Amino acid sequence: MAAQSQAGGPPAFVTMTEAVPQYPIARPRRLRRTAAMRRFVRETDLSGRRLVQPLFYKEGLATPTPVATMPGVSQLDLDSLRRAAAQAAAAGVGGVMLFAIPAQRDDCGTAAVAPEGPLNVAVRAVVEEVGGDLLVMADVCLDEFTDHGHCGVLTEAGEVDNDATLAHYGQMAVLLAEAGVDVASPSGMMDGQVAAIRAALDGAGHQDVAILAYAAKYASAFYGPFREAVDSTLTGDRRTYQQDPGNRREARREVLLDLAEGADMVMVKPALGYLDVLSDVAREALVPVLAYQVSGEYSMVEAAAERGWLDRRSVVLETLGSIRRAGADGILTYWATEAAGWLAAEA
Ligand code: PBG
Repeated sequence: MAAQSQAGGPPAFVTMTEAVPQYPIARPRRLRRTAAMRRFVRETDLSGRRLVQPLFYKEGLATPTPVATMPGVSQLDLDSLRRAAAQAAAAGVGGVMLFAIPAQRDDCGTAAVAPEGPLNVAVRAVVEEVGGDLLVMADVCLDEFTDHGHCGVLTEAGEVDNDATLAHYGQMAVLLAEAGVDVASPSGMMDGQVAAIRAALDGAGHQDVAILAYAAKYASAFYGPFREAVDSTLTGDRRTYQQDPGNRREARREVLLDLAEGADMVMVKPALGYLDVLSDVAREALVPVLAYQVSGEYSMVEAAAERGWLDRRSVVLETLGSIRRAGADGILTYWATEAAGWLAAEA
């Protein structure tokens, strides 16, 4: 009921339900009746340019090696890496995110800061192959390079040493920039990592290399299959540096800090279980917001589809659409190249 106005004038206010016509006048189904109507009124668009394909290069491999926990994903040698990057570009994917597995690991991740280290080799090869056609991004983190598997170097007591790690990240980012990377992407969740990388890049004359910060990255069990993809040696967990999955407000703080430190883009990770966080971040950030649909999200769908329990393509597109709807401008997904192909055919 509208409130009674004084002296018989118009109602002082109308409630929402009175302002909106009710059934049978209102029939939302009218906008769902035909494929043409649904296509026209869809609020969320998805296209290949918004997708980023993660790729794993393993030093010393002769042929691609399938990752058992991620059907359809392989560790790549240099030739197959080039081919995968070329396929991503041909499909219209927006970028590739490169990870590398070194032949040798040590306690401080020396292979990450060696000019001829595998990630730098991978970046050079991909830039040569497809540079300019898509963005070449690289993970700035030590976990693939350390023998203990942590994202940073350790103190004597065996704890991850935040401030000592920052110098390694800076050095790593400069080498990646020299190799031609477009986007350096720190994923280690060390405090101050964006500022340290920005300062190192700028100090070396790489003002134009962008930083995509894994700003809100949770200590998630959904990274399980990835650990096999990078032959991870980690024992224990990353809970002293990655966020507690129970925290929502904290993600906004992490994002604001990374933006203050100079992040050009921010990311939320994982994606599907964290759409509330993604939605918060998309509202807060005045920069492109990405989400990482991680290995466990991929493998769950692959496993169910393999058994015929889910329609693979529909579920993949629905998950990507949901991540977009929650506010992601871009999505890292192991289905990027394949999904970009589907989307191009549909358009
Ligand atoms: C760290 C890193 C990880 C992932 C991306 N970057 C592993 C971790 O934090 O344990 C996980 C990606 C995935 O699960 O798909 N370099």
